[in-house]
Amino acid sequence: MTADSIPPLAELRKRRSAKWRTFPDDVLPLPVAEMDFPLAAPVAKALHEAVDRSDTGYAAPTRDLADAVSGYARRAWDWTVDADDVRTVADVGIGIVEVLRRVVAPGDRVVISPPVYEPFAWWIREVGAQVVEAPLAGGPLRWRLDLDALERAFADHHATAYVLCNPHNPVGLVHPREDLVALAELADTYGVHILSDEIHAPLVLPGSAFMPFLSVSDEARRWGFSFLSASKGWNLAGLKAATVITADPAPKRYVDRLSPHSLFRTGHLGVIATVAAFNEGDQWLADVVDVLDRNRTLLDESLTRLLPGVHCAPPQAGFLAWIDFRALGWGDDPAAHILATARVALNAGHRYGSAGAGFARLNFGCSPQTLTEALTRIAAVRPLSR
Ligand SMILES: Cc1ncc(COP(=O)(O)O)c(C=O)c1O
Repeated sequence: MTADSIPPLAELRKRRSAKWRTFPDDVLPLPVAEMDFPLAAPVAKALHEAVDRSDTGYAAPTRDLADAVSGYARRAWDWTVDADDVRTVADVGIGIVEVLRRVVAPGDRVVISPPVYEPFAWWIREVGAQVVEAPLAGGPLRWRLDLDALERAFADHHATAYVLCNPHNPVGLVHPREDLVALAELADTYGVHILSDEIHAPLVLPGSAFMPFLSVSDEARRWGFSFLSASKGWNLAGLKAATVITADPAPKRYVDRLSPHSLFRTGHLGVIATVAAFNEGDQWLADVVDVLDRNRTLLDESLTRLLPGVHCAPPQAGFLAWIDFRALGWGDDPAAHILATARVALNAGHRYGSAGAGFARLNFGCSPQTLTEALTRIAAVRPLSR
């Protein structure tokens, strides 16, 4: 897989997924977290073979997925995952909601660190809990967990859980090990369950090293849950298969209480594709990371050249960039102005928490040509009429 294998826009527009059906054809869609790359060959082969067998029933109660996740975790991060500690769920969102249902009571406080993936707040409210914000520190060029703000949120609000984004969408932050160790200590001190969303972990870019939360300390294992899937790394979100991992009997007891039906809610084709991705998708993933790394540089150079004053901390993971448009005077929602004027769709920053006003999220999991076209169109945007 190289950047040249990415289908042209006319082909991509034939896709039926959210990214390609939400906007009219004159809009370049760079929001929804789907990538434009062709499927990894081993994944496509496994799916074609399943369709040829008319193998479209329920997911089977086998260890295939747990073994594949465990094998990948060891190869990618030298992290030992016991396959017995891996539980299958339909997607990361459902996994987090179902675990939250078991660790928090209605009215409890659950902490997040905005700007962060918008559905975190929805999931917390879905289980009847209240959202407490402990925003990231630093920014717009150097983001970091704010451990003091987290301690205040845990202590003053008697929080029962924290949803960690590891790596952190939308700023592309790979948390340093010492921050995760300190977070785990806070969790142990204040009795806070840590739900670590590790969906973007396979896409860590050169220069950064991903730390699985459960690998950092005994405290992390005592309080932590990891949510891992192939859906971002190998672009399988629509197939619905993910995992919840624990590494200590205390959190495992909560996972054991998930509905016995959760396996049958998981996509059978999702399991087939995920097993192929984790077992045979390393080369494809390395190629994708290479394209993303080049796009990251292209983005950085293009912003400097075309949009002086616009800042973006170079993402350390994934294919999402968190861009600070405040210097251009395009208001709290530059994405709306860009969509109306440049016909480029980005995600509105204010949806990621109040700290996101004036920012927008851009998906660079596309060809360099599409990225250049999007940035060129944005650079030609008219000033906001006042
Ligand atoms: C941090 C994060 N978590 C979860 C999801 C959604 O995952 P799923 O479709 O498995 O619920 C996304 C999708 O972009 C994401 O960025």
